[in-house]
Amino acid sequence: MREIRAFILDLDGVVTDTAEYHFKAWKRLAEEEEVPFSRADNEQLRGVSRRRSLELLLGEYIERYSEEEILALMARKNDYYQSMLTQITENDFLPGARQLLDDLKARGMKVAIGSASKNTRTVLTQLGILDFFDGISDGYTVERAKPKPDVFVYAAGAVGVPVVNCAIVEDAESGVEAALIGGMIAVGIGPKSRVGKAHFRYESTANIDLDEIIKGSVNL
Ligand code: BG6
Ligand code: MG
Repeated sequence: MREIRAFILDLDGVVTDTAEYHFKAWKRLAEEEEVPFSRADNEQLRGVSRRRSLELLLGEYIERYSEEEILALMARKNDYYQSMLTQITENDFLPGARQLLDDLKARGMKVAIGSASKNTRTVLTQLGILDFFDGISDGYTVERAKPKPDVFVYAAGAVGVPVVNCAIVEDAESGVEAALIGGMIAVGIGPKSRVGKAHFRYESTANIDLDEIIKGSVNL
């Protein structure tokens, strides 16, 4: 018998679509460094930390760089990304995301963010919802990135709800894995090939069925 008392939402790909900005920023860096990088390659960076993303982008080329240069590359990508974040407005929710937030609050759920991004607060500010959440766990909160469950465990603690009573909404494979390892209920957003291991799966945020998740979780 499991009662869901909190929803912890991933940010990028669940609440808003920053993946395109991440792609453009990484693409610019890759071109400057003359490293091949495609839109398909970018899919592998979904939910992955900034450092790990750079490692995946560089592949074997990473040997060209010293630790200092790697840090400089990460900073440069982040500068490109941050300059694009200024374009985000209150109109840039993914379809259904704004409604989902209101529905969760109307049902008396605690609502938190659990994101790998160090730009979480900037993005939430741009969307006009920084003050909406009962807890925020981001790229600064914990050391170990998803698929370690730490970012979600911290969010659960922030809202004062045991992990077994938390549902995680995630669009990344690593995030679904983190939720499952953490003993939480996993709600995957996207194709089966990516988030098929989740307890519940929907094609997009707009398709989330809260009744199904809340009622279905009782038997998990
Ligand atoms: C995740 C994104 O939310 O945050 C990843 O899905 C990104 O693509 C990661 O690399 C880290 O983001 P940031 O803003 O700290 O570079
Ligand atoms: Mg995501």
